[in-house]
Amino acid sequence: MKTVGVFDSGVGGLSVLRALLAELPGVRFVYVADSAYAPYGERTVAEITDRSERITAWLCRIHQIDALVVACNTATALAIDSLRAAHPDLPIVGVEPALKPAAATSHTRHIGVLATRGTLNSERFARLRTQLESTASSPVHFICQPCDGLADAIERSDLQTQQALCEHYVQALRDEAPGDMDTVVLGCTHYPFAAGVLAQLLGPDVVLVDTGVAVARRTRDVLNLSAPTSTKSTTPMLFSTGDPAALALAAHRWLGLQTHAEKLVA
Ligand code: DGL
Repeated sequence: MKTVGVFDSGVGGLSVLRALLAELPGVRFVYVADSAYAPYGERTVAEITDRSERITAWLCRIHQIDALVVACNTATALAIDSLRAAHPDLPIVGVEPALKPAAATSHTRHIGVLATRGTLNSERFARLRTQLESTASSPVHFICQPCDGLADAIERSDLQTQQALCEHYVQALRDEAPGDMDTVVLGCTHYPFAAGVLAQLLGPDVVLVDTGVAVARRTRDVLNLSAPTSTKSTTPMLFSTGDPAALALAAHRWLGLQTHAEKLVA
């Protein structure tokens, strides 16, 4: 049985784990929420690289993982190159805001992007955006909105702050958009857990796009698994550098998992 390590700054990567469990039954998953250091979105490159490296080293040492999924847009944007350099034999799958699928399907060509400040300010994101703006079949316009505080509010299950921040950031997107947006990219793995609020604010004509399923398919490819090896998902192992009970609760609430989480010091 293959073992895949998955990590995020906190509970957000559970949105990716959900897709991985559906796509890869028969694979063992070890999930790490780095909640003691969340949110990553407003941290420095050096801090995020250090945290990503410590967690990856622990996953390799203790769980002998066959592949790693960086279930965090911010850590992918800022640390995946150094992780790949440090672990050349480990297949590593990252998460990037779904600009490409959004550009492929948007009719109005005005696409909102909600992500952390760290992701939006990264060189990796700038490259992706420029490349799509210059190669898309017809001109496309991305309206990028950093959402300070939103991942943190989701992390803390603070529904009131989530609602207020979503209202604020949706309004900011509308103020900036030069035309009607028909697509909004959820460029942080925490945001699918606020999708209900965002969908209500944006209305039925706007499609929300995230990357969970695409990442799960890519993970299947790197593991060389062509067909499900079993029909029943295995229960993932959950670890948190913060409060394990909060992680177990989030996994129960959002993924229906009945399992405990353990404390990790890394
Ligand atoms: N969930 C992460 C992301 O996809 C990080 C959010 C945060 O910790 O700021 O970017």
